[in-house]
Amino acid sequence: MPSNAAMRDYLLTRRSVGMAFLKDPGPTAVELEQILTIGTRVPDHGKLSPWRLILIDGENRAKAGERLAEIAKRQNPAIDSAALEMERQRFLPAPVTIGVISTAKHHPKIPEFEQLLSAANVAFNLVHAAYALGFAATWVTRWYAYDAEAGEALGVRYGERFVGFVSIGTPTAVIEDRPRPPLDQVVTRWQA
Ligand SMILES: Cc1cc2nc3c(=O)[nH]c(=O)nc-3n(C[C@H](O)[C@H](O)[C@H](O)COP(=O)(O)O)c2cc1C
Repeated sequence: MPSNAAMRDYLLTRRSVGMAFLKDPGPTAVELEQILTIGTRVPDHGKLSPWRLILIDGENRAKAGERLAEIAKRQNPAIDSAALEMERQRFLPAPVTIGVISTAKHHPKIPEFEQLLSAANVAFNLVHAAYALGFAATWVTRWYAYDAEAGEALGVRYGERFVGFVSIGTPTAVIEDRPRPPLDQVVTRWQA
């Protein structure tokens, strides 16, 4: 395979852009299909496709936020109006958010851990796909990835879990890079 300088430079400089800075325009239907196609092209021991995706876009962004606000209020009746409004706006303003669900389950040969890792690869591959098509993206979990009621409201079924939410849009800010770990702190060479 020939070396690909553009891809190398992208991988050397990529950084997430937070959801607050992701705005319209988002991907067209054709672009979104490509992002999803790339996103689901991941290592997958046993070819189980142990994941599935839920799109939250258009008017459903506000409706999903409303559901989160209802759950937050039920779980914490003392929640203040600013916090409630934050829940309502959770999936705004990013044009599209993709919930990545791990459907890992017991398998005689493939450990659930490996199935979960494959789902995490989907999430990060969606990020790469978004950038490849000229957008920016971020991968977050937040409380609703871990909360049973919120998970159900957003589409997880029994035995499944969100590995996160990948939001995609056009970046409206240049994000400073964050310090990256020096290699000598995280890499050692195995020696006998
Ligand atoms: C599994 C996972 C969950 C995350 N959840 C959150 C989150 O809930 N809130 C948040 O602010 N950042 C979260 N982050 C971090 C963001 O993705 C953050 O933007 C990222 O670490 C920036 O690194 P990058 O510039 O290399 O992409 C999460 C990261 C991962 C891998």
